[in-house]
Amino acid sequence: MQQHLIVTLDGKDYLVEPGTNLLEFIKSRDTFVPSICYNESLGPIQTCDTCTVEIDGRIERACSTTIDRPMVVNTQNDRVQTSQKEALDRILEKHQLYCTVCDYNNGDCEIHNTMDQWGLQHQTYEYKEKPYEKDYGPFYRYAPNQCILCGRCVEVCQDVQVNETLTIDWERQQPRVIWDNDTSINDSSCVGCGQCATVCPCNAMMEVNMEGNAGYMTDLEPGSLAAMIDLTKKAEPGYGPLFAVSDSEAAMREERIEKTKTVCTYCGVGCSFDVWTKDREVLKVQPQPESPANHISTCVKGKFGWDYVDSDERLTQPLVRKGNEFVEVGWEEAINVIADNFKDIRDNKGSDHLAFISSSKATNEESYLMQKLARQVIGTNNVDNCSRYCQAPATKGLFRTVGHGGDSGSIDDLEKADMVVLIGTNTAEAHPVIASRIKRGHKLYNNTLNVFDIRKHEMAQRADNFYQPKPGTDLVWLSAVAKYIIDHDKHDKAFIDEWVDDFDEYYSTLETFTMDYAEETTGIPKEDLIDFAEQMAAANAVSICWAMGVTQQDIGSDTSTAISNLLLVTGNYRRPGTGAYPLRGHNNVQGCSDMGSMPDKFTGYQNVTDDEVRAKFERAYGTTLPSEVGKDNHQMMEGIHANEINSLYLYGEDTGIVDSNINFVQSALEKVDFLVVQDAFFTYTASFADVVLPASPSLEKSGTFTNTERRIQRLYQALDPKGNSKPDWQIIQAIAKALDHDWGYTDPSEIMDEIASLTPLYSGVNYDRLEGYNSLQWPVAPDGSDEPTLYMNGFNFDNGKAKLYPLTFDNFFKQDDVYDLHVNNGRLLEHFHEGNMTYRVPGISYKVPNAFVEISPELAEDRDIHEGAEVKLISDTGEAELTVHVTDRVKGKEIYIPLNSNSSLIGEQAGAINLLTNSDVDKDSDTPSYKRTSCRMEVKTRRGKSPLNPTNFRVDKQRKPQYSVRVQDKWERDDYIFPGNQVNK
Ligand code: SF4
Ligand code: SF4
Ligand code: SF4
Ligand code: FES
Repeated sequence: MQQHLIVTLDGKDYLVEPGTNLLEFIKSRDTFVPSICYNESLGPIQTCDTCTVEIDGRIERACSTTIDRPMVVNTQNDRVQTSQKEALDRILEKHQLYCTVCDYNNGDCEIHNTMDQWGLQHQTYEYKEKPYEKDYGPFYRYAPNQCILCGRCVEVCQDVQVNETLTIDWERQQPRVIWDNDTSINDSSCVGCGQCATVCPCNAMMEVNMEGNAGYMTDLEPGSLAAMIDLTKKAEPGYGPLFAVSDSEAAMREERIEKTKTVCTYCGVGCSFDVWTKDREVLKVQPQPESPANHISTCVKGKFGWDYVDSDERLTQPLVRKGNEFVEVGWEEAINVIADNFKDIRDNKGSDHLAFISSSKATNEESYLMQKLARQVIGTNNVDNCSRYCQAPATKGLFRTVGHGGDSGSIDDLEKADMVVLIGTNTAEAHPVIASRIKRGHKLYNNTLNVFDIRKHEMAQRADNFYQPKPGTDLVWLSAVAKYIIDHDKHDKAFIDEWVDDFDEYYSTLETFTMDYAEETTGIPKEDLIDFAEQMAAANAVSICWAMGVTQQDIGSDTSTAISNLLLVTGNYRRPGTGAYPLRGHNNVQGCSDMGSMPDKFTGYQNVTDDEVRAKFERAYGTTLPSEVGKDNHQMMEGIHANEINSLYLYGEDTGIVDSNINFVQSALEKVDFLVVQDAFFTYTASFADVVLPASPSLEKSGTFTNTERRIQRLYQALDPKGNSKPDWQIIQAIAKALDHDWGYTDPSEIMDEIASLTPLYSGVNYDRLEGYNSLQWPVAPDGSDEPTLYMNGFNFDNGKAKLYPLTFDNFFKQDDVYDLHVNNGRLLEHFHEGNMTYRVPGISYKVPNAFVEISPELAEDRDIHEGAEVKLISDTGEAELTVHVTDRVKGKEIYIPLNSNSSLIGEQAGAINLLTNSDVDKDSDTPSYKRTSCRMEVKTRRGKSPLNPTNFRVDKQRKPQYSVRVQDKWERDDYIFPGNQVNK
């Protein structure tokens, strides 16, 4: 047992574990010590000096003291009080206490609370204005006059978000926070993650939506607000009465500001936070240290991307096509039209003539009901979801090798990996909070970062080693590295002996994957690959993350399998910091598949062809269920063209824009006899529909989402549904009822209970266990125990052993003579997917108003085009017109088009990437090979206005990396004296 140390705190002895932070220990004993710059998620910053206590007779900062010896600590005596008072006074020299009329006075202002709790009555030094104006960005603003220079914002920007925009300039007469080399917020490298505003202890850095909105008297004109501030201070001499008045004001605000825990609706990271609403207005989003996936982090979308919820363009009433027009109707009429058509097609053509597409934006409960509607009510397995467009290959690769289709560890574990490998993932833009975790591990703990990608995105720029394989050839270098490691006897033999089957068979198929072959096929020099292999074999814990650059290829499943094979060969499973991370795209794409919205699986990946499983569902559903595998998304479109599908019901999916080869898909949508589209907005796909149903987005409903790390989290309803819109689960239930199946759910928790009863992976899940910020990572046993790290008890096969899966390769990259440009495509940080939600967020639209095409400087020179040129791109399936952004993120004849396109919002689709993609698919999962697209280019104009707002962080910005806030620079100033030294003298 570890030896404990005796700490005498205010006269009482405690046994304390060595290494404990003194401030944390003091707080754990319910003893108050001010600690304004300290934040449990950031650790000691040491800028405020308010936490001074007496340690063995000397006044020191508690926050930076580690208990490493027995010590006598006093938090109360006069010396301590004098030192703390001096530190608090210095804060009030920088920060005016006008709490009653401050938008930050909502019970959690740390300056207000500290002064109040400490009992400060008067300040020694007068408040001094600083010679700086307020600065407003599109999302948050900085008020230098209220800034206490605690540096939390700098710490979070430098070492948590790792965007490295903020510093404090300690050199100036009046130090302040600065952006890059002292530019405005709007013109800086800031990516708008908002974490600086999240951690600011006061109103200095604040969300713009809060200003003038939170308080009862804070929306006054600037002049009258200033007068009010003066009046407040004069009328309330001494701080006791001021705090009393402002506390009752804060209490009144609690009546009208709702704080509701929710989970982000955008990407698969699954950030959770409190959303503050006043009526229907979102004031701010506040992540919590206990937010399990993200802690205090968010990206710009989760923090500021909510205006769409109250957009005037929301659908608020069902629409039915009558002739050539959509007519607003009541719910009853719309549901009856749907039920009549479904019945008609089912009874006259057969159940398999109907198809259903579930939404990976919807909750688990809603996805479950969609598959239940398809299977129980209609009698078909024709149900799928958009994981078909991205994640199905990763799932397939993991099913083949380790048995569970999900991340093998937690997001937190990525910091523990001493090597992180990113393959085909632009993590900083597609999974920003995960990227921050990886960037932090790289910056603070020297974890090695290796990036394999065809595009030089931010993670590639930051990597220790960046490799650029030819498109679609990752399987080759992965297999060659595995072969090299085995040939050089550097594989993990003990791990393989104990935990892995089929080694010999696998190894025999590696014969062709020599380093020479890998170099020739991938274009990566073999020395680089050997170096990588040596590094990987020597590393203690390797995590590999991959995404759509791998999966959206003709061999996405095989390449995902090769990743898992390599992890097995090197023993990189079954420990935190190791394993496979197929980063899931949409917020609930994992859950949507978990819930059985797949043509071959019930919930929890139970096969529809398994008689025993089917019998279980038949008993629960009280009907015979189809035993044949149904059609996936891709087959549904083909089925419509072949007259095998006559009805399609989809929700929360803009299939007509996001599927590949949309010319083909749109003609299917036009052709299908009966189309129901359910969404929050009138999407491009809705324009083809017969019935359009208004659905409620995440803030208007409750339920659960499952994120990329298999974490199941509850979201609570923050707002009433807008107009006559309804949550998807209620709509699906109403359709089932009209088809004579009255499910009778009154709350999503009842749906989850049913899911748990039918699904071993979710058997211990219930709403009580998920209360608040509690979460569970599947598989969840009936007793509620979960598995943050998978496979600790063996792999998910009958004998508990993983399998090495043999692979071959014939997917050589060939340059097309006619269509000579390779079209890469993917997400942007600011917009989510096609952009139906984020284009309705004014701040985001301002920063990125349009889609564009990235062209390399070499290609621009070759074609004699410049920034802002208009080009027409022509593939063998269609044409798209876009504006050029010239950047070295792409090289040679690689071009890149973001997925987002606002053209559908304005009734056009000129720039949609999927006008160019084709109908080719991954051979094992039917996932479209979006990334295997070629086109040729016609130049329309040679130069013009850049498609990017010049204030966008991508345009010539200069980050300013440093570690933490450089408090030493403050301490070296001539005017700085440590308050403790004044007392220690
Ligand atoms: S990136 Fe911008 S919003 Fe995020 S912490 Fe840095 S300065 Fe703040
Ligand atoms: S703006 Fe930054 S330095 Fe100023 S008070 Fe807020 S967190 Fe501290
Ligand atoms: S979009 Fe993703 S990273 Fe950004 S806040 Fe939402 S869940 Fe987190
Ligand atoms: S909390 Fe210790 S210096 Fe600020």
